[in-house]
Amino acid sequence: MTGRLGSLDEHARRLSGTTLARLIADDPARSTDFALRAGPLYANFARQRYDRAALDALFAIAERADLAGALRRLCDGEAVNATEGRAALHPALRGDAAMTAPARSAHTQARAALAQMRGLYAHLADSAVTEIISIGIGGSDLGPRLLADALAPPDARFRVHFLSNLDGHAAQRLLARLDPQRSAAVIVSKSFGTRETLLNGAIVRAWLKDDARLYAVSAAPQRVAEFGIAPARSLPMWDWVGGRYSLWSAVGFSAALALGMEAFEALLAGAAAMDAHALSAPLRENLPVWHALTAVWNRNALGAATQAVLPYDERLRLLPAHLQQLVMESLGKSVRLDGTPVEADTVPVWWGRVGSDAQHSFFQALHQGTQVVPVDFIGVIRADHPHAANHSAQLANLLAQAEALANGKASDDPHLRHPGNRQSTLLLLDALTPAALGALVVLYEHSVYLQSVLWGINAFDQFGVELGKTLADRLLPAIEGQGAADDPVTRALLAQLRGRP
Ligand code: F6P
Repeated sequence: MTGRLGSLDEHARRLSGTTLARLIADDPARSTDFALRAGPLYANFARQRYDRAALDALFAIAERADLAGALRRLCDGEAVNATEGRAALHPALRGDAAMTAPARSAHTQARAALAQMRGLYAHLADSAVTEIISIGIGGSDLGPRLLADALAPPDARFRVHFLSNLDGHAAQRLLARLDPQRSAAVIVSKSFGTRETLLNGAIVRAWLKDDARLYAVSAAPQRVAEFGIAPARSLPMWDWVGGRYSLWSAVGFSAALALGMEAFEALLAGAAAMDAHALSAPLRENLPVWHALTAVWNRNALGAATQAVLPYDERLRLLPAHLQQLVMESLGKSVRLDGTPVEADTVPVWWGRVGSDAQHSFFQALHQGTQVVPVDFIGVIRADHPHAANHSAQLANLLAQAEALANGKASDDPHLRHPGNRQSTLLLLDALTPAALGALVVLYEHSVYLQSVLWGINAFDQFGVELGKTLADRLLPAIEGQGAADDPVTRALLAQLRGRP
């Protein structure tokens, strides 16, 4: 590795002969010194494979890269999405931490949309509708789906169902168990041009047989009108919000219907509190900065090719899917802002699953596989269920797994040996409140952005998803029997498709 991250190699080499257990034994104070709190979130980085000198080097890089200034520029509405020449003003959706004209204007628009959401919520609550079908994909689905799954109370006014996949079985299965008379649909698409969403929207519209129960969220009001949804039932989106950062906007309307408006606003408040922390805390006390530096350390100094996120709370089972899009669509880049190749590896593959289920799935590889996988463990201190024995066991498992990965276990039998020295971060939420979940998601959003600054890439475009979409559009006639494919392998595959029932 060369360039500004290059000094990390030296520290990685220096530390290569030692172990986490040794680092902690030699410096027990790191158990508390490498930990910090931001509102309802506590984070402990003591089990990362760096020492104080390596951390000094990381924070020096943070200073040189002006991470504090970068956060300020993001929140102020500068054109941080340089390849598309626009701002990424998602922080303005949740609070008014910035005083610049673009940020204030964005915040005013967001508050107006929130008022519209309240109005539509009340309108629906006055109707016979009990079931909401939320139709969208990617950023127009994953965030709201996570929020609804994590936070919807059992006695919510509406039950919200998510329809994202293009595969017609998804629509078939969902609609088979719903009554159109008691259902409404929200079509969520920033572009209102995404094929999956428009096809599923058309299926649901025909099934509902009543356009008055169709709602839309989009930054393309003209396309919404052409689809036949009246402005009174449409909520706005803007080009200054990226899809994967949009759950705080009207894209979160379906989630707000699942949670109730009050809880949705509490979520926004918790998210805004994390923005305020990110903007005001000094680098050494700044949670997103620690998280981003740790990610860069693991990827670039230690060469980790993947990163796991393991929430130990059933309600957070969809968090890995949301973070996969957030992290990998943002950081899956190999050229810098100026178009030159990046000098260091960027995003690792992010993956994960809820614990304790995951322990009985892939943990064998985490403990004894040949690849070291850094882990973000996420736990919730206070449970909201009455099963105390389960909760104690759940927390014991969470702590035990992190300890086992770090310390390992010696044995004369190589099959029984746990090598240990496998790093993790522990994130603890006091309770899974809307505010705490808001803070947690914003921690990851800002960490992702800061990693992009350290790598010199744009976190806010996603040109890489376009080619496949264009080719699929081009192949559609051939699939339906008209025309041929240019690519010889695709031609052979088409012949197979046509030859089968
Ligand atoms: O997967 C690519 C993508 O453009 C995402 O960034 C976006 O969240 C998703 O498609 C859906 O786009 P839209 O909201 O415009 O339908």
